[in-house]
Amino acid sequence: MKSLPNCYVIAIDGPAASGKGTLARLIAEHYGFPHLDTGLTYRAVARTLVIEDLPLDNEELAAHAAANIDLAHLDRDLLSAYGIADAASQVAVMPAVRRALVEKQRAFAETPPGAVLDGRDIGTVVCPDADVKLYVTASPQARAERRHAEILEAGGSESLSEVLAGIRRRDERDMGRADSPLKPAEDAHLLDTSEMDIETAFRAAISIIDAARAAGQHS
Ligand code: DC
Repeated sequence: MKSLPNCYVIAIDGPAASGKGTLARLIAEHYGFPHLDTGLTYRAVARTLVIEDLPLDNEELAAHAAANIDLAHLDRDLLSAYGIADAASQVAVMPAVRRALVEKQRAFAETPPGAVLDGRDIGTVVCPDADVKLYVTASPQARAERRHAEILEAGGSESLSEVLAGIRRRDERDMGRADSPLKPAEDAHLLDTSEMDIETAFRAAISIIDAARAAGQHS
């Protein structure tokens, strides 16, 4: 089961604040692959609706915004704002939005030499034939503590319990939706980062990927 000739695809999924985004970036740098944070594509749709003062529950408008997203112009700083995360998970339940974004994400993955993609449905829907799949997770408490520290550092003032409630709400929406719910692919390697710092998690991920690459070369 290989994706495409001349393409090597590493799929990284997991819930909010599991560390998957940072890991994906480090893994892409380590192997010299392009990286796509697919969460930014859902955030870009949500942000377009918010700044145009459009409702977040109109699938037709959201799908139109999704069709116009340009992967080459995703502004991480702008889209990472804490406030946009909840809106992103609302538009992400819409099948028409997902169809439009998944098509773009696949085209990115299928461009040689391949890529590292991170999100919620990369190993299950976007790239089911990915060469290596990681499912990065951590307890809700550990994830909330990390996200809370980031928020305080950026000058925000949410309490830890507010952040934990937000994480649980997004988990429920991301795991409970009918279309492409967050779950590990059957052939994903699980990486629980609750007790790991990023350096430890990175070393664990690299050893999983190196083993998969070595096994692929011999098969
Ligand atoms: O990873 P993130 O926090 O930037 O993602 C924002 C929202 O986008 C998340 O709550 C669910 C959605 N998302 C998705 O449904 N599928 C993806 N592949 C990536 C993100």
